[in-house]
Amino acid sequence: MLRSATFDASVVTVEFDTDTQARFHAIWLRDNALDPETRAPGNGQRLITIGDIPTDISVSAATISNGDLSVTFQPEGKTVTFPADWLAAHNYDWDRVQKNGWLTPGLTTWQRGFDAPSADWSDVHTNPTAKRDWLAAVAEFGFAKLTGGPTDPESLLQMTDLFGYVRETNYGPYFEVRTEVNPTNLAYTGLGLQAHTDNPYRDPVPTLQILYCLENSAEGGDSIVVDGFRAAQRLHELNPQGFDLLAGYPARFEYKGSGGVCLRSRRPMIELSPDGELIGIRFNNRSSAPFVDVPFDQMQAYYAAYRQLGEIIDDPNMGVSFKLEPGESFIVDNTRVLHARLGYSGSGTRWLQGCYADKDGLLSTLAAMETTQPEAAE
Ligand code: FE2
Repeated sequence: MLRSATFDASVVTVEFDTDTQARFHAIWLRDNALDPETRAPGNGQRLITIGDIPTDISVSAATISNGDLSVTFQPEGKTVTFPADWLAAHNYDWDRVQKNGWLTPGLTTWQRGFDAPSADWSDVHTNPTAKRDWLAAVAEFGFAKLTGGPTDPESLLQMTDLFGYVRETNYGPYFEVRTEVNPTNLAYTGLGLQAHTDNPYRDPVPTLQILYCLENSAEGGDSIVVDGFRAAQRLHELNPQGFDLLAGYPARFEYKGSGGVCLRSRRPMIELSPDGELIGIRFNNRSSAPFVDVPFDQMQAYYAAYRQLGEIIDDPNMGVSFKLEPGESFIVDNTRVLHARLGYSGSGTRWLQGCYADKDGLLSTLAAMETTQPEAAE
């Protein structure tokens, strides 16, 4: 509920019944008007362009009726109502003094000891609440396991059906992870792999990865996951200048391990939004290309920060390890969570399949489920 409103030609100031105030510009209110001539009633899409708003837009009246705000705009002579709840949800009049590397609300970082979220295959396929909780875990933690699944090849493709679509690449709709004699990629050997994000040489990177176990009787081969956001936070604590270097200059990544493919990207290891939000990690020793975008007099410090980030990622206190059994799988947010593999011996078999998908589809499915499934209906 709104208590009062004051205005001049270019700004409306409202007071909520929670004793908070918020200012809104005339141009902002007009652009976001909720009337059916501005917003299509069916799909909510905006029907006007920025150019349709008069350059001399102004407010000639702002009143409260039934606790909501009613604004009259000139020169159109148009009156539009803004519900108090809508204004509260879209308030932009607040102080922004966030340091580089802040996390969006709703994300929780983790390290060793984390009780990793896990769900059952048949539950997420039959119970919408279980599915929603599993998707919500991926959104919050960037990682979740799924157990009790079938051991048929291509079962992983059914996982993407839960929330979206496979991102097909030059590796195909999915790829095999098992020992090969002449591997096209080091992932296909028994070597251990340092924790990494996949395919940083793509732009955009695949934002989700699924690894699905079909056989695992080999010695070793445990999987390890590391929260790259937690690692970046630690680097920020220990070496804020180093954090700024890794965030402030592009690295280079490249992959040309198979015929007809030459993928290259120029992106930072720590990616921030323009207002400093931590939004992505790219870390992969195998596909790092020579860094040529860091100024000469910063390169030594850049490498020191890179080394320090690597040490944090390798720190046993950072990783959560587990061995996948046949029918078990995990999904990671590939913009955030790194995965590693301990070396494994040639005896026995280790057969995983992997595929990529995208987080926007997962978050969309989750958001749609959260708005259409009130708790009381479950
Ligand atoms: Fe990988």
